[in-house]
Amino acid sequence: MKQQINRCGEWLLERFPISDLWNEHMAHYYAPKNFNIWYFFGSLALFVLVNQFITGILLTMNYKPDAELAFDSVEYIMRDVSWGWLVRYMHSTGASAFFIVVYLHMFRGLIYGSFKQPRELIWIFGMLIYVCLMAEAFMGYLLPWGQMSYWGAQVIISLFSAIPVVGDELSLWVRGDYVVSDATLNRFFAFHVIAVPLVLLILVFLHIVALHEVGSNNPDGIEIKKNLNWKGTPLDGIPFHPYYTVKDLVGVGVFMFFFALVIFYMPEMGGYFLEHANFIPADPLKTPEHIAPVWYFTPFYAILRAVPDKFAGVIAMGGAIVVLFMLPWLDRSPVKSIRYRGGIFKKAVVLFVIAFIGLGYLGTQPATPAATTVARILTAIYFGFFLLMPLYTRWEKTKPVPERLTDQPTLEERITAAKALAKEVIITETTPGMLGATVVKRKPNPAGIKAVAIRVAKNLKKSLD
Ligand code: HEM
Repeated sequence: MKQQINRCGEWLLERFPISDLWNEHMAHYYAPKNFNIWYFFGSLALFVLVNQFITGILLTMNYKPDAELAFDSVEYIMRDVSWGWLVRYMHSTGASAFFIVVYLHMFRGLIYGSFKQPRELIWIFGMLIYVCLMAEAFMGYLLPWGQMSYWGAQVIISLFSAIPVVGDELSLWVRGDYVVSDATLNRFFAFHVIAVPLVLLILVFLHIVALHEVGSNNPDGIEIKKNLNWKGTPLDGIPFHPYYTVKDLVGVGVFMFFFALVIFYMPEMGGYFLEHANFIPADPLKTPEHIAPVWYFTPFYAILRAVPDKFAGVIAMGGAIVVLFMLPWLDRSPVKSIRYRGGIFKKAVVLFVIAFIGLGYLGTQPATPAATTVARILTAIYFGFFLLMPLYTRWEKTKPVPERLTDQPTLEERITAAKALAKEVIITETTPGMLGATVVKRKPNPAGIKAVAIRVAKNLKKSLD
């Protein structure tokens, strides 16, 4: 038996370079040894992508892409198909999880300068993935044919009509009808299930090929290929397999815990992951009072609404994504990682995060005059962050970057520090209890909490200087 298996293996290896591929991309692929928590999100994005593919295929087995049947077929999946509710919630929660993971993955790229030379192409492929992901989510959201599916699509597609001259024809062409209808549902289904996933797969492949060509960046932003040992492998690198495959599996385990928590206990996430109005069948004659896209689109939706003119709003919304593509050429800093940048960049990143989250929140709310004013200020900060980047990244003083990767605290050191911190903020009192037992009482220590808060504030201030 063993001999037969060996012969089968040899037969395959003579015809297909599995072991070469494995060595090149896993066992002999050297990654920096100082990856931290931010480096979990690439592999998690891959994991969520696989989840979306598998659950999507299962949903397609019972879903009907027909305006008369779509809503009921989703209800049928939820109520009558064995485990249908689970598959549907895994897919809908998976969509939100995808954006959470991808936003964190992009943020990591921003703070460690992973988009900078020589990784511009990895960033560009990433941005193309992001745009495809938005198209995929937008078209998928029409499929349940609920009120928000219908009216959300109506609002977004009608934005095309703001484009001068060709606008009306363009939105008609996208919809395939004068209003969102069965024709729209059918073409969105085709794109959501076949065309866009195919493009996504190709882009993810290109993203990883480009990454493996130049190698991973790291939290220090130091090129490990510059320091090689006598064998020609990086001194500060470790083989991706087994070190990072095992680390990524831990990330997947932790992710699955939180993913399951959402699926089983809060699959709608208070209307943020699945909007309440989407549990009502689409009614072309009844516009919902407040139309809002799903949370991952809301920063861009808030930018659209912040601009008084419709066409200018569409340009601003598109521009908010285009500037992200230009990031590798906007940043003129000589250093990559935020660890060695000056205070201006750090403060700009804090402001940018506040603006992005603020816009995301405002995009879920009705556009009152006060909310619109705040949205305008946040939109200015959003664009200011990118458009002023060539100036402030060139002006600011950076710190010297070491030759080799720096040592970070180990897990054991972090646990010891956390224990010392807990001791500082908690008072423990022991009193004798009944039958010779000891009663341990713990209460907050105000003086300890104050001292820790002052230390944290001082450290934060120091890190922003
Ligand atoms: C389906 C979505 C995506 C998948 C599956 C994916 C996958 C990955 C993987 C596996 C890595 C290597 C591991 C890591 O560095 O965490 C990586 C690195 C990277 N990704 Fe993505 N990615 C996705 C989307 C994006 C997006 C939207 C962007 C940015 C626009 C992006 C930018 C980058 C960059 C710059 C790196 C190199 C990071 C470094 O070396 O520090 N990715 N990606």
